[in-house]
Amino acid sequence: MTEEPLERWEGGTAAELAAEWGAPAVHLYRTVGSTNDLARRLAAGGAAEGTVVLAEEQRAGRGRAGRGWVSPAELGLWLSIVARPAAVPEPGLLPILVGLHVATALDKFLPDHSTQVKWPNDLVLLGRKLGGILCEATWEGNRPGAFVVGVGINVLHDPADFPEEVRDSAISLGMAAGAKPPRRAVAASLVAALIRRLARPVAMQPGELDALASRDLLRGRAVVVTEPVSGATLAQGWAEGIAADGSLLLRETDTGFARAVHSGTVRLRQD
Ligand code: BTN
Repeated sequence: MTEEPLERWEGGTAAELAAEWGAPAVHLYRTVGSTNDLARRLAAGGAAEGTVVLAEEQRAGRGRAGRGWVSPAELGLWLSIVARPAAVPEPGLLPILVGLHVATALDKFLPDHSTQVKWPNDLVLLGRKLGGILCEATWEGNRPGAFVVGVGINVLHDPADFPEEVRDSAISLGMAAGAKPPRRAVAASLVAALIRRLARPVAMQPGELDALASRDLLRGRAVVVTEPVSGATLAQGWAEGIAADGSLLLRETDTGFARAVHSGTVRLRQD
């Protein structure tokens, strides 16, 4: 898929934005297939940790479990960052930590609300999806290489800008705040925070577990865990929080036993 470079994004050149965000390099595109794919390519070529790929529009944006991610021009933040952690003993923890720090970075644009994290990779505001995280490992030969951290945030959308099938379940920062925040300021807050966090180990740091608990949408709720692709039910129970390894702690309805769920898609049980 061909990509079209971009001279400036929200008035800033790649060099200006890199300086603003503390990034070693920023690659700007008017249109791409997926920023994650470009970031993977750059990582394979040796791109430094913190390298950012940002696109005004993605034509083949990707979500979890093979789903698409609708990424129209001039409305959102669609970007990927190259991460090179020394070790990632628990890959499931990376999207959780990224979600926590993105949610925290967005708070200053939301005077009356705070963004919640829905295990394992969703950002939720007022019960609607604000954005998502897609972390992917890359390989160098047969060894694990870099990680690519993809973040998509709905920023300036009005309800009519969302496809009809998600209109009732999606939200943008502007819709929640009642005023549209400048995307450049949102990007600066979010990317700078992520670059700082990605430079530290992929392990829960002091304070992060408590911060997660306070933003955990599922905590204390009745949930169903399903297999992301087939939709088959894997478990049902009460969500009891997120563990230090990034797993979802579940008290099973049938057995009353506590178990850690390491992968799956979660929905709130309606009954
Ligand atoms: C999800 O909620 O399923 C994850 C969505 C992740 C979307 C972002 S947008 C930037 C990056 N490039 C992609 O193709 N996907 C991620």
